[in-house]
Amino acid sequence: MVPASVMDLANKASDIRFSAWEIEAIRMELELKPRKGLLRKILEEKINDDDSHPPYIRVACTGKGKYDSMARKHYGLLPDGDHADAGSPAVLEIWPAQHYSPMHSHGGTTGIIYCLTGQIDVMAYEELRWGATELGLLTLTPGQCAWLAADKFGVHKVYCPMDGGSKPVGPWNLLNETSDYAATFHVYLNEEETVPDTYVPAELGTRDVFEYVHEIEHDRRKFATYSDLSWHVLRRVLAKNSST
Ligand SMILES: [Fe+2]
Repeated sequence: MVPASVMDLANKASDIRFSAWEIEAIRMELELKPRKGLLRKILEEKINDDDSHPPYIRVACTGKGKYDSMARKHYGLLPDGDHADAGSPAVLEIWPAQHYSPMHSHGGTTGIIYCLTGQIDVMAYEELRWGATELGLLTLTPGQCAWLAADKFGVHKVYCPMDGGSKPVGPWNLLNETSDYAATFHVYLNEEETVPDTYVPAELGTRDVFEYVHEIEHDRRKFATYSDLSWHVLRRVLAKNSST
C-alpha cells in the first residue's frame, strides 16, 4: 500500500510544471555548441571529482549549491562566497541523455520522484549491493511519479534513456553531443517529518547522507547530498537566457 505521506507529496507535486521557456533555457545551458552552457561546464567539473559514471546535476530548492559561485561569475549575477548545504528536502535533478546515477539508497527517507520533462528510467533493487536483485523498472514521463520509503523501493538507479547523439565527447568521453535531457523533482522526508507533530531536525542516517555502490570498484560508499546549484540562482540564469 502507498503510504499516506507519499500520497500527500504526490498530490502536491502534481501541479508542478516547467514552462516551455524554462525547458528551452535549461537545454541551452547544456549545449556544447555554439556556446558551451553553464550546466555543461558544471558537468565537466563534476567529472574531475568523480569519473565513475556520467554525471547529473542536483539543484537544491532550499540551501546553497556547490557551483552557485560559478553561475554567478558566469553571468555576473551576485557576490561570490558560497559553500554547499547538504540535505535539501526538495531537489530538481537534471539528467543529460544517456547519463545515470550509481545504485544508491535513500537513507531511510520517504519520498517521490516526479518527472517534469523528458523521460527517465528508475530501476529499484532489493538491497544496496553490486549485482543485487532487480525489483522492477519504472519509466517516468512528464506528470508521472515514483515513490520510495525506508522499507520499500529505497534502493535504485536512475537512467535517462534519451538520444545522446552519435559519439561521446568531453572529459573521459563521459558527456555527449546532444543537449537533450530529462528533469525530475525529488522530495525526501526524514522519518520524523512524515508525522509533522514529531518533527526533529535532520541527522546522519537521514537525507543528509545517502549511500551508493561505486560503478567501478563495486563497493559501498557514503555521499553527503550536496547540491550543485540552488534554484534561486539557476532561475536567474534561465531568465537571462529567455531575454537574450
Ligand atoms: Fe535517488
